[in-house]
Amino acid sequence: MSTENGSRAGAGSGSGTEIGAGASSGRNPRHWAVVPAAGAGRRFGGPVPKQYLELCGRCVIEHSLATLLEHPAVDGCVLALSAEDEWWTDTAYASHPAVQRIAGGTERSDSVANALEALSEYADEHDWVLVHDAARPCLTRSDLDRLIAALGDGSAGDGSAGALLAVPVHDTVKVADAASGDRVLRTVPREQLWRAYTPQAFPLGTLRRALARARDQGSAITDDASAIEQLGLRPLLVSGRSDNLKITRPEDLPLAQFFLEQQQEQGLR
Ligand code: C5P
Repeated sequence: MSTENGSRAGAGSGSGTEIGAGASSGRNPRHWAVVPAAGAGRRFGGPVPKQYLELCGRCVIEHSLATLLEHPAVDGCVLALSAEDEWWTDTAYASHPAVQRIAGGTERSDSVANALEALSEYADEHDWVLVHDAARPCLTRSDLDRLIAALGDGSAGDGSAGALLAVPVHDTVKVADAASGDRVLRTVPREQLWRAYTPQAFPLGTLRRALARARDQGSAITDDASAIEQLGLRPLLVSGRSDNLKITRPEDLPLAQFFLEQQQEQGLR
């Protein structure tokens, strides 16, 4: 994590107002991580939210944050947590000087919007925001490098559409009939289908506008790129590793453990 350009570590679990002190426009855009971690993990179940479950000697969110915070291009991180969160303060990053803790919202998109609002206090609207799910602990440095490189070399488009890690779909995809819920209505050609992963990176100002518009229109947003798409922009799909899974169900946890062990053996983390 860089401390260049006046990006100063600050505030840990407090207000975070010291992060980014000295921010100014007229310089290269910086990169900020935004990590929504305010979900209750209802599909996963259990008394402890999935982001705090133990995985290879750390908890899930510590893995997710490590790749972001150890990257030299990432200037700081805004983390959205639930008001009921009683686990964060026991993590290794609770007092990290470049992590600003803020309150999450009802939906994931509300948590991201809250984080962007906090970030706007010190970041430039042209800075890149990299939104990454707390529940994706297997992000590798190489995937993050590839995403950031796509932003920097202009392949993310005109500089406003952004980019996201994604993986081509290899399974055959069926659409279910809405009435029955479990009868096949049709098969979707998979040649153009990708699974959207995170991080997803967009200019701060563009993403703020996109999420505000989606909220005003009552659109259900399950990832940030879909809000950007609703502005008529076309984010770049950056081919990533399929092991960057989101922990959703109990069986995903041993899978994530296996992936992390493999990555460690291969020197990827
Ligand atoms: O529920 P799902 O797995 O899709 O959530 C993705 C990420 O968004 C998780 O890291 C979760 O903690 C976060 N989230 C949030 N605020 C919510 C709901 C989910 O920050 N209200």
